[in-house]
Amino acid sequence: MHAPLERDFDRFKRALPRDFAAHVRDTYRVDLTARYLGEDVPHPIGKGSGQLSLNPGQLEDDAAAGLAFAVLKTVIAEDESGVQAMAAWAIHETKMKVERRPTGAGREGWTVTWKGRGWDRSFSDYLSLVRSGRDFTRAGRLLVVPSVKYHLPRLGEPFREAEYRHTTARLAEAWGEGPLLVEKDFSPTLAGDALADDRAQILRWLREVPARIRAASPMPVRVAVKLMNARFDDRFQVDMMEACTGADTLVVFNRLFDAERGAAYGGWDLSDRNLRVLDSYRLLPPSTALSRPLTGTGNISSGRMILEYARRGCEGVQLHTFFQLPLSEYAATHGTRPQRALHALVFHPQDGLIAGMLELEARGELERQDGELRFLDVRAHAHHTG
Ligand SMILES: Cc1cc2nc3c(=O)[nH]c(=O)nc-3n(C[C@H](O)[C@H](O)[C@H](O)COP(=O)(O)O)c2cc1C
Repeated sequence: MHAPLERDFDRFKRALPRDFAAHVRDTYRVDLTARYLGEDVPHPIGKGSGQLSLNPGQLEDDAAAGLAFAVLKTVIAEDESGVQAMAAWAIHETKMKVERRPTGAGREGWTVTWKGRGWDRSFSDYLSLVRSGRDFTRAGRLLVVPSVKYHLPRLGEPFREAEYRHTTARLAEAWGEGPLLVEKDFSPTLAGDALADDRAQILRWLREVPARIRAASPMPVRVAVKLMNARFDDRFQVDMMEACTGADTLVVFNRLFDAERGAAYGGWDLSDRNLRVLDSYRLLPPSTALSRPLTGTGNISSGRMILEYARRGCEGVQLHTFFQLPLSEYAATHGTRPQRALHALVFHPQDGLIAGMLELEARGELERQDGELRFLDVRAHAHHTG
């Protein structure tokens, strides 16, 4: 299979086939089908919430490139009079800097330095973006999911139900037919905030927030909770995963927070931590670990890294930084960044997803079913051996 892979990698530098997942299935007998929030998607690679999902033009590029899904920028919840308990997160900041970030072990990764936070325009502007996302989803071009930062109270204080109700109802109205899919963001700047100093307080949020969202929704809703990297040890990350039983999917884990620079960061420190925590989570009794759909995020810049997350239980991944690199970092010579990124992630002859899955097969760690290697079996195998 190596020769056809080299050939595909080379010829797809100019453009990917329209339905590249079908091509992969026909040519390599590799089924890339993955899942996000209970929806089947043709392959595991989606876009994480952030500065790259702010307008319909970006969604159009993602759909044309063939991304599996895109999560919209996080909006800050509000009540019917526009009051936002988490208003400190709705700040305006446009400047992003894409930088190399070395680790102690001498590996160079990439990070995006940015001091902004959530959606900084009006809620009604956000709702029109949600309607546009709904149209992409209905047309079967791109699964689009909104993301919200809802009110998080201090211990002993009540949740502001009015913000949950108003925000969720308006999202549901914009979406139209259910179920409503929504991601709830626990961000790195929250991890760095005094609000997140208290472990018991964080665990209460994780226990209660999914049910609050469900109670607030006028239609059936599926909730993904994107967990933060809290400023505590690995064990607490696992405690957070265990506490959040009400979520339909956990997104693991948002960027690290550099208190000195007052900014979030990624790179190898992020994937090292995320994978280490997922390793300890996997060792819990299978009844706990097996039943949780997970989506990976953090420093994914190769198909091999997608498989690292998949081997630890993730049924899909969401990226941000890899869609922002200087053009010279991609092997593809034409196309938008999402296209060039997909080309490298899927077809790279050494580090791509196909090469990685064939290698798992050669090592006896992934078996064909009805003649096909299946991406979703990587996860099952991980649980089995874990
Ligand atoms: C500039 C920037 C803005 C982001 N904004 C959000 C956000 O609003 N909500 C959210 O859930 N995640 C946000 N993220 C996190 C990304 O979605 C992603 O989970 C994280 O960066 C790790 O993936 P990566 O290493 O591929 O960038 C942001 C990331 C970056 C770099």
